[in-house]
Amino acid sequence: MEQKAFSRAVSALPSLTAVLRRIFAVVEDSNSSVLDITRVLQMDPAITGKVLRLANSAYIGIPHTVSSIQNAVTLLGTRRIQSLILVSILSSVKKNVCAPFPVISYWRHSVCTALIAEAIAKSLRRFDCAIDENELFSAAILHDIGKLIAATMDSESFVQLYKQSILKEVPFFMIENEEEAHSSLGGYYAEHWGFPNELKQCIQMHHEPLSDKKLALRISIIHVADIMSHVLGFKIFSEEVTPMIQEDVLNLIGLPLERLRVIAQSVIEDQKSIEAFMDIVNEI
Ligand SMILES: [Fe+2]
Ligand SMILES: [Fe+2]
Repeated sequence: MEQKAFSRAVSALPSLTAVLRRIFAVVEDSNSSVLDITRVLQMDPAITGKVLRLANSAYIGIPHTVSSIQNAVTLLGTRRIQSLILVSILSSVKKNVCAPFPVISYWRHSVCTALIAEAIAKSLRRFDCAIDENELFSAAILHDIGKLIAATMDSESFVQLYKQSILKEVPFFMIENEEEAHSSLGGYYAEHWGFPNELKQCIQMHHEPLSDKKLALRISIIHVADIMSHVLGFKIFSEEVTPMIQEDVLNLIGLPLERLRVIAQSVIEDQKSIEAFMDIVNEI
């Protein structure tokens, strides 16, 4: 991407405040204890409130109330807290995005993709796959962040490009200019924010899941979850064309189609979890 376009993209999105940067660093540090994370989270009352709300939501689904932030941290895990922070920062972007880009559908698609990716990773646990489902959730909820960036930069042109892909009946990612593709934009932004390299790669490669040999399984799960989310009707634009799942990708994941169908069904039936996240997105 040209330097000028990149600077425009970076200035279009909110930046991390000093407190959030600190929270992010502590959450990211594998040596941090629950107490360290609790202390740093308490520096931001808005984030603390959201962590508590998510811990008490249907998504976690425990019968008693979680009133201490320390218990909420243990229950949610650091990766989920990290995605919560990112989602709540990025959801403020909707104020800047002009009308034609359907921000709410964008978030619903992202949340649904994340829930499916998490469910696939849980199913793979039985086969001793070393995939951290929380990590996967974070990457999946951010997989299309480049679309939000593009829509923030120039909503009108972005929606125009989407309409072209619908008219030509091709999936959106196939009509994009490679240099400014949403996957590249997302990758640049992930780097700018100092996301871990794995997270950046998952965002950047989600339409070419087999290109990164080391992360192929993780990226393939996000790729499949993304397409399943389309098939379930959680699209950004209702008329957009759903990409095809490559057979090699399905083979790599190795779950029978029947199992994927059960996962899709359970996510659809678990509307409360989707709404718990949408609540946080809509709040700002
Ligand atoms: Fe995408
Ligand atoms: Fe997507």
